[in-house]
Parts: sequence; C-alpha cells; structure tokens
Amino acid sequence: MANVTEDRVRDALRGVEDPELKKDLVTLNMIKKIDVQGDDVSVLVELTTPACPLKNKIQNDCVAAIKNAVPEAKTIDVEMGAKTVASDKPKDVLPGVKNTIAVASGKGGVGKSTISANLAVALAQEGASVGLVDADIYGPSIPQMLGVSEKPKVIDLGEKVTLVPVEKHGLKIMSIGFLMKEAGPVIWRGPMAAGAIKQFLTDVEWGELDYLVFDLPPGTGDIQLTLCQTIPLTGAVIVTTPQDVSLADARKALQMFQKVNAPIVGVVENMSYFIAPDTGVRYNIFGEGGGSKLAEEMSVPFLGGLPIDPRIRAGGDVGEPMAIGMADAEETRMIRELARNVAGNLSKINLGAKEKQEPRRATIA
Ligand SMILES: Nc1ncnc2c1ncn2[C@@H]1O[C@H](COP(=O)(O)OP(=O)(O)OP(=O)(O)O)[C@@H](O)[C@H]1O
Ligand SMILES: [Mg+2]
Repeated sequence: MANVTEDRVRDALRGVEDPELKKDLVTLNMIKKIDVQGDDVSVLVELTTPACPLKNKIQNDCVAAIKNAVPEAKTIDVEMGAKTVASDKPKDVLPGVKNTIAVASGKGGVGKSTISANLAVALAQEGASVGLVDADIYGPSIPQMLGVSEKPKVIDLGEKVTLVPVEKHGLKIMSIGFLMKEAGPVIWRGPMAAGAIKQFLTDVEWGELDYLVFDLPPGTGDIQLTLCQTIPLTGAVIVTTPQDVSLADARKALQMFQKVNAPIVGVVENMSYFIAPDTGVRYNIFGEGGGSKLAEEMSVPFLGGLPIDPRIRAGGDVGEPMAIGMADAEETRMIRELARNVAGNLSKINLGAKEKQEPRRATIA
C-alpha cells in the first residue's frame, strides 16, 4: 500500500475547483495547511469570505477528492477558515475596512434599511466583522431598526475628534442621525451630506472590518450621486419591489452606480409575495419576478428575494432584525442566502479587479 503523503493530498486538491472563481484550490492559494499523521489527514482551506455561499460544497468536494485519490487515508478532516479578500480602494481611506457596500434603490420605502440591517447582521453571524452606516439624511432609521438608543462616544483630543461607533447585535453602527442636532426634518444640500459622509469615513474609529454596509437615502438625485462619489465603493446592492414603477426607478439607480464606476453586486427583490398564514395561499401583491428580470436585463446578478412578512416589519420596529429574533424562520434562511450571495459576488468583484490591476479612485478630498 502506498504511503499517505502531503504531496498526494495536495495533488488531489488540485482537482477541486472553487465553482465561482473557476480555478482549483491550490492555484487559488486556498490550501493553508496539509497535515499527515500516519494515515490521518487534516487540511485547512482558507476561503475568500466567511460567508462563502459554497462553503459546504467545497468542503464535501475536498473530502471526496482526497478519498478518491488517497484511498489509504483513514480519517480526513477538512477545516474551513476564511480571510475576506479586500477591495482595491485607496489605502488612505478607511484603512482597516476591506469592503464597502452601498444598499440603494430608486424608489423610497422598498426596504433598503430592512435589507441593510439584516444583511449586516447575517454577515456578522457568518463570522465576518461588520459595520453599518445609516447614510439616510432624509430619515435615518437604522438606530430604531437595531434598537440603538445610545449615542457614539466622542473622543476629543483637541486637534482631532474621533467618534466610536455604537456596538449592537455584533455590529459597529453609525447613523447620520447621531450627527443631527435635533430630531426632525433637516434640509441638506449635496456638499453637506457629502461632508457628513466624509466624517464617517475619516473620523469614526471603525477598526478592522471585513464589510462596511451603507444604507443610502432613496432616489438618484444629486445627493445620492455625491454620496456615491464620496464613498470608495466596492459594490452596490440595488433593492427593488417587483412592480414596474419600482423597477423603473431601480434601473435609474443601477445606472447611477455605473456612472460613478461602482460595480453592481446585484439586485434584491423585496416584498416579493405574501403567504397568508391562515390558508397558506400565496399572493403576488406587487407582481412577480420583476427583480430577476431587471437583473437579467442589466446583466447583473440576482441576489435573492424576501417575501412580505409582518415579522420582518415587527423586527424592524422593535430593533431586532429577523436574523436575530427568528433564527429558524424560512425568511431568515433567505436573508442568510442573500448575505452569502452578496459576499460571494464581492469576492468575485475583488479578485476580478485584482487580476485586471485597475485600482479605482474615489473622489474623497
Ligand atoms: N419584506 C418585508 N416584509 C414586511 N415588511 C417590510 C419588509 N421590508 C420592509 N418592510 C417594512 O416596510 C417599511 C419600509 O421599509 P424600509 O424602511 O426598510 O424601506 P427603505 O427603502 O429603507 O425606506 P426609505 O426609502 O424611506 O429609506 C418598514 O416599516 C419595514 O419594516
Ligand atoms: Mg431607509
């Protein structure tokens, strides 16, 4: 019988492909350790994100490939680790933040804040370090949706003032509402909004983050454009509901990001349908399939959908996102899938951009 060796195990793993990145794990430099003790094999695979949508498949493929090529192996232990790939944004802006994600829509009230909050929580639950910025100057709703009542700590060192984000549900949270003097409507001009966002980028102690999610105000006006030019975006997630008016506005939002050269992570369809709890009958209240059609038309990924569920609304009202309050619900599974698709597509964007060696510049002054 042939010996079980590190080389034989590595050769077996050359046959395992990352289905999204379309290369084998050895070429992708994802095999971080191969340990052979007698006939016992243990391997450490390092994924490009802890929220990898294909984690289980890759793990199973590794075990199968080793079993097949090294049948003498008695035990095979494949451990899955992760190191989130960073985008190639300028190093001087948000130096510890690897990826920035904007959640946007053309139309108001389609669920950006709900999706932002749940996406951030779900990414954190997968093991990523995550921050959430409420950049909605018209109506900051993240503090309420996450049950944050305290204000960030201010460290005033005279020359420099630093804000420490509030921590809740495993996230670091900052809201534009924290910077407003009083509650109530505020009239912003583009440069003021951009100034507040710059403050989030430069004066907030974010530390090391895998993902920083920005919940944007609705629309595609000057303010949104200025914000998108100010944040060095790794990618944008577009939220829409299935009906035509929302889709038309979502298309405009997509085009806005294309204008500022920000990659589109994909389209999320919110309020896709409603299932009556008493009869189980499905109602397509806002129509059907609009989100995926839009994604196809614009050649961007479709990230998933969420039904209308009173529990999603209630979670937002009481400050406990669905992914926290209802860990076992079907909707929570959908939110997790959405978060994994976002993370997977960001990895693809980053690795694609790296291969092309084309660093993008944001216009932060
Ligand atoms: N899938 C859903 N099921 C039930 N209620 C939802 C769902 N998504 C969002 N909601 C509710 O709809 C309302 C609007 O959602 P949300 O505030 O997230 O939208 P928005 O796009 O951020 O709005 P705005 O444009 O005003 O910022 C909220 O009360 C929220 O709880
Ligand atoms: Mg909102």
